[in-house]
Amino acid sequence: MLFISFEGIDGSGKTTIAKLLKEKLKSQGYEVVLTREPGGNEIAEQIRDIILSKKNSQINPWTEALLYIAARKQHVSEDILPALKRGAVVLCDRFMDSTSAYQGYARGLGIRTLDEVQSIVLGTTKPDLTLFFDIEPTAARGRMKARFEDEMDRLDLEKQSFHEKVYEGYQVLISEHSDRIKVVDARKSINEVLEQVSYYIDEVLTKLQGNKNDD
Ligand code: TMP
Repeated sequence: MLFISFEGIDGSGKTTIAKLLKEKLKSQGYEVVLTREPGGNEIAEQIRDIILSKKNSQINPWTEALLYIAARKQHVSEDILPALKRGAVVLCDRFMDSTSAYQGYARGLGIRTLDEVQSIVLGTTKPDLTLFFDIEPTAARGRMKARFEDEMDRLDLEKQSFHEKVYEGYQVLISEHSDRIKVVDARKSINEVLEQVSYYIDEVLTKLQGNKNDD
């Protein structure tokens, strides 16, 4: 019924907000599926383990990109589409824009090139709304440092310049898809962030309702 993705650099706080939003929407009577990428089901979680393992530092950028997309295909077909068909709200912690920002832009494979691959593999499945949790890479790094080193995955451990490039990549995507991607100020308090997120969700629900009435 409604597909919302959460995007941002590592340490932007999106996962915490996704969990709180799930509870809020559930209390309003919605069936809510909170899931994440890479992962969300058994096969995709196995792919996640390969991609994020610190042992695999020699992974080729294309191998990395195709594994993320492979995990996404499994996730879309096994979980996301069935949930949307049942009328659920799907909250997905990262989706196709992560591949565009991390592999397309920061790894240099090209946003356009990966758009083409993703549209071949995923067809027209895309979020109704994407929330970008905006925080400067240096501030996000500070939050990440509060985590224990052994909780960090291969991507978390990338150099600061990589995370800065990812942030730049997201700015490109935001300017190209301003109708779908909404920017949330992630430096604000949790309550303020939740309020901003709820505003964008109401906006998209009203729009979708309007489209339905026009049919
Ligand atoms: P997470 O830490 O948000 O669970 O995401 C795992 C890491 O994988 C994170 O550093 C972002 C990265 N990532 C990509 O590089 N490309 C993708 O397509 C996805 C979904 C995640």
